[in-house]
Amino acid sequence: MTKSLLIAAILGLGQVAVFSQSPSFVVDVSKPKADIQSTMWGIFFEDINFGADGGLYAELIKNRSFEFDSPLMGWMEQKTNKFSINKESGSALVINRGEEDKMNPRFVRVTVNADKGYVLTNEGFRGMGIKKDMLYNFSLFASQHNGSNTKLRIELVNEVGTVLGETTVAPSGTEWKKYTATIKATSTEPKAKLNIWFEGKGVTDLDMISLFPNDTWKNRPNGLRADLVQLLADMKPGFLRFPGGCIVEGRELATRYQWKKTVGKIEDREMIVNRWNTEFSHRPTPDYFQTFGLGFFEYFQTAEDIGAEPLPILSCGMACQFNSAEVAPMDELDPYVQDALDLIEFANGDVTSAWGKVRNAMGHPAPFNLKMIGVGNEQWGPQYIERYKEFVSAIKGKYPKIKIVTSNGPFPDGELFEFADKTLRGLNAEIIDEHYYNKPEWFLKNSTRYDNYDRKGPKIFAGEYAAQSVATVSPDNKNNWDCALAEAAFMTGLERNADVVAMCSYAPLFAHAEGWQWTPDLIWFDNLRSYGTPNYYVQKLFSNNKGTQVLPMLQGNAPVTVQQGIYASAALDKATGELILKIVNSTSKAQTNDVEIKGASKISTSGKIIVLKNDKLEGVNSFTDPKAIIPVEQPFAVKGKKLNLSLAPYSFSVFKIKVQ
Ligand code: AHR
Repeated sequence: MTKSLLIAAILGLGQVAVFSQSPSFVVDVSKPKADIQSTMWGIFFEDINFGADGGLYAELIKNRSFEFDSPLMGWMEQKTNKFSINKESGSALVINRGEEDKMNPRFVRVTVNADKGYVLTNEGFRGMGIKKDMLYNFSLFASQHNGSNTKLRIELVNEVGTVLGETTVAPSGTEWKKYTATIKATSTEPKAKLNIWFEGKGVTDLDMISLFPNDTWKNRPNGLRADLVQLLADMKPGFLRFPGGCIVEGRELATRYQWKKTVGKIEDREMIVNRWNTEFSHRPTPDYFQTFGLGFFEYFQTAEDIGAEPLPILSCGMACQFNSAEVAPMDELDPYVQDALDLIEFANGDVTSAWGKVRNAMGHPAPFNLKMIGVGNEQWGPQYIERYKEFVSAIKGKYPKIKIVTSNGPFPDGELFEFADKTLRGLNAEIIDEHYYNKPEWFLKNSTRYDNYDRKGPKIFAGEYAAQSVATVSPDNKNNWDCALAEAAFMTGLERNADVVAMCSYAPLFAHAEGWQWTPDLIWFDNLRSYGTPNYYVQKLFSNNKGTQVLPMLQGNAPVTVQQGIYASAALDKATGELILKIVNSTSKAQTNDVEIKGASKISTSGKIIVLKNDKLEGVNSFTDPKAIIPVEQPFAVKGKKLNLSLAPYSFSVFKIKVQ
C-alpha cells in the first residue's frame, strides 16, 4: 500500500481519497522528445488600449502637431489677464500648409494682443504622469513673425493649477527652428497639464510641441517608458511581434499600417487615426491616433534590446475583414509586396543599400538580423490565399532564408479555419498563426489540441491567445486567476508539443487604466504606475523556465495530459543541466504527486520550486495590490530518484532540479 493510500485508509477517507487519487508520473531525462525553440514564448505588441501613444511611447503631449481630425483636440485656450477673462488677449489659428509639408501639414499661429494674457494648455493622455525631481525635456518648432517679441513660459501644473516646474523659450526670427528646454518637477502628480504662457505681443507659429521624461528606457532621448519595457525584458521573450493585430490591416486600406511612413525624422512621420478609436461603441476613444513616434526602427531596436527575435507583420493588401474588408486588386498588389521586400532590406541590408542606408542614418549600421516576417494579420478566405502566394513567391525568390508566418484567420476552428488550415498545409506553409480568445474552460479542454497535429507539417505560432472570463470583447472580462490558471494548463500542452508549436504569445499586451478598449490584457498601467497581471506571471514563468528539450512525462504508459485536474509538462535545460517540471493543479484540493526520474545517473539532493497560486479563482492583481498573485520561490529537498511533490489548490508550480 502506498503512503497516501495508507493515510487515506487510516483517516477513513476512502470516499474522499484526496491523496490516493493523485497520479504518479515518470519522467525520463535520457529520452528527449523534441527541441524547444528559442522563440517558444514571446510577446505580441499592438497599439491598442494606448499601448504605444499614451503608453510605451513616452511622449506626454497629446496631438503635438495638430494633426488630429479636430486640430485642437487635447489643447485648450485660456484667455486671461490673470484675474478675469480677456477674450481679446490672443487667438490660435490652425493653418494647413498642404503640399508644402504633406506629412505634417498643420501648425498653429498664435496672435497675442495682451502681455501674459494668453495660454495654450495641453491635457496629456488622461493627464500627464510627472515625478518629483525628474527632468522633462520640452521641445517645439517655432517661427516668429517680424515685429513680434513673444516669449514662451512653459509650466507644468497639477489639477488645481499649482506650478510643478517651469522654463522659458524665446523664439527668434521668421525661420522655422527647433527649440529645447528642460523642466525639473518639484512634486509627483499623476494628472498634470502643460501650460504655454505667451509673454509680450506678436504672432508666433508653433508645431511639434513635445515633452518627454528624462528617464526613458536606456535613457534614449524621446524614447520609451522604462518601467513598461522593463516588464517586457523581464519576460526574456523569444520574439517580439509588431505592430499588431488588426492595426496592421486598418479598418480600410488607407489606414493600414505602412512601415515606411514610420521611419526617419519624427516630424516627417505621417500621423493617422488609430483603428481602435471608434471600434467599440462601449469604449469609444475619440482622441486615439498613431503618431508613429514608436515606429519600425524603434520596434526593431526594442526587440534587440530585450533579446527577442523581431517578427514584423505586414498588410497583405486586405483591410480588416470584420470592418470594410477592402482588398487591393491582384494587379495592384505590387506596392504591398514591395513593402515586404524593402522591409527585409531595411532590417538586414548593407548600409549601402537603399533601405539599409535609412537604417544607418537612424543610428543602426549593423543589421537587425531579421529571420521571419508575417503576411497579413487575421485574414481568411480564398482572397487571402491568392495574395499570400504572391508574397511567398516574391520573398522566397529574393530572400529564401526568411521564414514566412501565415494567418489562418481569427478562429481556432470552424469553416474558415478548416479551409485555411487545409489549403496552407497543401502549400507547405512554414509557420501558421492560430488565434484563440475563449472561456477558461476552452483552454482546459484544449490542452491536448496539438497532440494529434501532423508532426511533419507546418510549425504553429499560437500568435494571440487569452482566456476571457465573460466573453470575447466583453468590457467585463477580468485578468483573474481563473483565466491565468487555465492558460497555464493550456501552455503545458503547447510545451509538450514543442515539435509542432514553435512560437506563442498572449494578446493584447498593454492597457492604460483609463484609455483601454479591450480587456483582458497582460500588463496594466496608468500615467505613473504599471503592474503585471497573474496572466503576465504565467507567461513569465514559462518563458524564464523554458528549457531546451521536451521530455516524456508518463502516467503508466500514457503521456500526462490532464490527469485528475493535473496538467503538466517536463523539459530539460541542457545549458544548466536542470530538469524543469511545470505542473498545474486546477482543482480546489491539495494534491501530492510522486514523480520518478529515470535515465539520470545523478540527481541533486535539493531543487527549487516556484509557485504561483491563489485560493480564489476570481483573484486579481491591481494598482493597489499589484503583488496579490506573484510567484514565490523556495528550496525543496530531493530524496533519491523519486520526487514527492505537493501541489497547492489552484496552483501553477515550476520545479527545477539539477540532473546528470
Ligand atoms: O488582440 C486584439 C485583437 O484581437 C487583435 O488586434 C486581432 O488580431 C484580434 O482579433
